[in-house]
Amino acid sequence: MHARGARCYLLADMATPSHGLDPEEFRRLARMAIDIAAEHLARAAAGPVFQPMTADERHALLAQPLPSRGEPVAQSLAYARDHVLTHPMGNGHPRFFGWVNSPPSHAGVIADLLAAALNPSVAGGDHAAVYLEHCAVRWIMELVGFPEAGAMGLLASGGSAANLIGLAAARHWAAREDGWSVREEGLSGSRPRHMLYMTDEGHSCLRKAAELLGLGSASLVTVPVDDDLRMRPDKLRELVRADREAGRRPFCVAASAGTVNTGAIDPLDRIADVCDAEDLWLHVDGAYGAVAASLPELAEATAGLSRARSLAIDAHKWLSVPVECGCALVRDGALLRDAFSLVPPYLRTEEGKGFGGLPWFSEYGPQQTRGFRALKLWMTLRTAGRDGIEAMIRGNIAMAGRLMKQVDAAPDLERLAPVPLSIVCFRYVPEGARDDEARLDALNKRIMERVQSEGGAFVSSTTIRGRFALRACVLHYGTEPADVDSLVAAVRHAGAACVLETV
Ligand SMILES: Cc1ncc(COP(=O)(O)O)c(C=O)c1O
Repeated sequence: MHARGARCYLLADMATPSHGLDPEEFRRLARMAIDIAAEHLARAAAGPVFQPMTADERHALLAQPLPSRGEPVAQSLAYARDHVLTHPMGNGHPRFFGWVNSPPSHAGVIADLLAAALNPSVAGGDHAAVYLEHCAVRWIMELVGFPEAGAMGLLASGGSAANLIGLAAARHWAAREDGWSVREEGLSGSRPRHMLYMTDEGHSCLRKAAELLGLGSASLVTVPVDDDLRMRPDKLRELVRADREAGRRPFCVAASAGTVNTGAIDPLDRIADVCDAEDLWLHVDGAYGAVAASLPELAEATAGLSRARSLAIDAHKWLSVPVECGCALVRDGALLRDAFSLVPPYLRTEEGKGFGGLPWFSEYGPQQTRGFRALKLWMTLRTAGRDGIEAMIRGNIAMAGRLMKQVDAAPDLERLAPVPLSIVCFRYVPEGARDDEARLDALNKRIMERVQSEGGAFVSSTTIRGRFALRACVLHYGTEPADVDSLVAAVRHAGAACVLETV
């Protein structure tokens, strides 16, 4: 077998020589790639955080013709080095405070090469990648305190996909509770409208999932929030009861453990009480914040997370696993299998027999062929350890705390939301403009754009209670006090400059 494989690599007249390189050539080129990656990672903190591309640079990438004859791998690598790695998004830089996009763990970067070399489909079967995914998913359960008995989890492309999987399980459960099959009948029949509860702070992917699942956005009920932008359980209960009285079918609450806007953690324990009393499925979107449940000091804030029937987590956010790596956890693994499995019962594999291995991941989600995401997750967790992960999250929260204090102390800055995790929402408020909301919105938008294009730091925005807010997310394991300080300086400097321009 080995000899045949080796001969294949050496065929001189292969149509696609780059598909089957000679082992020595592979080694040489892979080393070249590793040198490029190492150089890139080493320099990530040196240059500007972000630089807009020029029109010519954009065009050069967009308009490349498909070559009819292939080029040597080294040439493609050099092109990538000179024209692709030169224009990063910025999230590798410790002064990137844009969205909840982290830098990659270096262990994860290395793992991705090995995963591609093995290139299995992790649909299922009796091969190592399958077991590694089960192990890595169990580690995630352990990390956030999700009960393991009878549960099932699987990796997905990201938080959007993981939320979709959780909500699909909820929809399936509700129909089954009522004695029918949504997989058979769909939602277009005469069934009462199935109602899903979330807050305006919930991520847009929850709405997208509701639309994809045929619930329709008319099935989304917005639950009011408290002063800290957290779901109000009392209002939730009222809305559920009103819907039920009106003949609708309340079935699921999609709460958040770390909203994308401010990191708000809904009062999960009290929401779980409502769900128990009203027989509702509790889904928690913890794409960004659920991993904070690993910190003992946040046990109270995240209490109730373990009562979720489904939970979405993004390992490519706060765990710094290279994208893409989301994770869906569902308490009732058998139910999840019923929601997705398209293998007739007589074809289901049996644990420990033949190629069967454990139940196939492809029976628990929408994907058939599945990538080996687990290796980069497993390697990131294994090399950081629980202590390392906790220290990283704690460090980011401390840096957000530092930023919060500086904002609170500055006469020309105003904080717009609490800081429960590592996101700080604030704005620049110059003397004399305090009550002019429209002016402040426009000014802060200009400040954000200026800070972004100056390249000294990167901050994004959101809207808090209708007001434009600068939104700084700390998710870089290398962000230090000086980086936070330079963000504050960049915002104040841009603020003063923008004000001068308008007088
Ligand atoms: C709270 C929350 N939920 C869901 C998502 C969607 O995750 P993804 O972008 O990985 O699909 C995000 C992304 O920022 C998020 O912050």
